[in-house]
Amino acid sequence: MDRFVIRGGVPLAGTVSVSGSKNSMLALMAASLLSEEPVLLQNAARVHDVSTMIRILGALGVEAVWEADDVLRLGGSEPTATEAPYDLVRTMRASFMVLGPLLARCGHARVSLPGGCAIGARPVDQHLKGLEALGAKVELVGGYVEARASRLRGAPVVFDTSTVNGTQNVLMAACLAEGQTRIQNAALEPEVGELIGVLQAMGARIEGAGTDQLTVEGVTRLKGATHRVAGDRIEAGTLLAAAAITGGDVTVTGLCLDQLASVVEKLREIGLELDTRPDRVRVRRTGPLRGVRVTTARFPGFPTDMQAQIMALLCLAPGSSVLTETIFENRFMHVSELQRMGADITVNGRTAIIQGVAGLSGAPVMATDLRASASLLLAGLAARGDTHVMRVYHIDRGYDRIEQKLASLGARIRRIRD
Ligand code: EPU
Repeated sequence: MDRFVIRGGVPLAGTVSVSGSKNSMLALMAASLLSEEPVLLQNAARVHDVSTMIRILGALGVEAVWEADDVLRLGGSEPTATEAPYDLVRTMRASFMVLGPLLARCGHARVSLPGGCAIGARPVDQHLKGLEALGAKVELVGGYVEARASRLRGAPVVFDTSTVNGTQNVLMAACLAEGQTRIQNAALEPEVGELIGVLQAMGARIEGAGTDQLTVEGVTRLKGATHRVAGDRIEAGTLLAAAAITGGDVTVTGLCLDQLASVVEKLREIGLELDTRPDRVRVRRTGPLRGVRVTTARFPGFPTDMQAQIMALLCLAPGSSVLTETIFENRFMHVSELQRMGADITVNGRTAIIQGVAGLSGAPVMATDLRASASLLLAGLAARGDTHVMRVYHIDRGYDRIEQKLASLGARIRRIRD
C-alpha cells in the first residue's frame, strides 16, 4: 500500500489545472450503456474509481479504451451480460448507477446491493423506488438487486430526499422508457446537469435542466456522443484549500466558477483573497485567517465533499469555527487523525467545534475515505515536520496524480511504494 510523505511548511505557488470531474465521469460511463454507438469522453481523469467503472463495464461485455492520456472511448456494442458482480460493486458504490441504464437497454439487470460505507449507511431505496415507479419488478436475491421490465413505462417519480446518483440512475432509465416521466425533487448538483447535457446530445428528450423538476419523453434508441468532461469542482476546491492552508499564491485553472461559488465565498469569509474568472481562481493569503461557520448542504450550498478539507484549514484559523455536516451521518472520520496532528476539535453529533491552533505537527495518519484523506494531506502540507499519509489508495480513487500537481506548486511530497 502506498503512502505519501509530506514535509510541511512550504507556501504553494504557481498555476495548476484540474482534471475532469470524477463524479461526472462515473455517471457518463454508466450512460454509455444506453447506446449501441460509442461515447467519447475528453478531459477524462485517470483515477481509480474510473478504472473500477471500466472493469464493471468490462464485466457487462462493454469495452472502455483509453485512446489518449485523457480520452476515454466507451461502448459502441451490445452488453453481453447484465450482472454487476459484488466484488466490484462493493469497492465503489457509484457502480450501482449501471442498474437503470442496463435495465432500460436489456430489460434485465442484476447488480450487487452496495453495503454501508465509511461515511454513512447510504441506502439506495430512492433509486429502487424510482425504477419501480417506471414499472420495473425489483427483487432482492442473495445480496443482489434484480430488476426486470420488458419495456419501462414513463411515470411520475417523486424523490423523498434529494439524491445525486439516484436522480442520475432513474433519469438514464427514463430516457428509453415508453412515454413521459416527470421527476420531482431531482438533485441540482452540476454532475446531474452535465449528464443531462450528454443524454440530450445522445438524442434524449429531457426538459428542466438546472431545476428540481425534470420531464423526460422516452425514445427508442440513443446515439453516441463526444463530450469534454467539466473540471472537477472538488479537486479545484481541494487545491484552493491547499494554497490557503500553506499561505501560498496559486491559480487553479480548468474549473467552472459557477460550480464553486459557495467554496469561493467561504474562503473569502475565512480571510483569503480570491480573484475569479469563469474558468480559473487565484487564491492568496494576504492577511490573518478567521474562524467561520460552515454547514454542508445540497448544491448550490457548501459541498459535503469539501467538508473535511475546509476543516483542515479551519484548524489553523484563529478563533472558533462551527462545522455542521448535514448530508452524511458519519463523515468526521478525519477528526481523530487531525487531533493527532495537534488540532483542537470537539465533535457533538453532526457538528464539530474547531478552535484554531497556532500550528499543526507532522504525524503518521490514515483515513478511511477519499475526502478525509485529502484533508490529512492538506494538514500535512501546513504541519511542522513530516506527515505520513497512509492508505493513499483512498486519495487515488478520486484525485488524478495529486502528488505531481502539488509538487509542481513546490510541495515537498513523495509517494512511497511500500
Ligand atoms: N440517500 C437515501 N436513499 C437513497 C439515496 C440517498 O436515503 O436512495 C441519502 C444518503 O444516505 C445521503 C443523502 O441521501 O444521506 C445524499 O446522498 P446522495 O444519493 O446524493 O449521494 P450519492 O449520489 O451516493 C454523490 C457523490 C458523492 C457526494 C454525494 C453528495 C458520486 C459518485 N458520488 O453520492 O461523492 O458526496 O453525491 O453530493 O457522484 C465523493 O466524491 O467523495 C463522494 C462521496
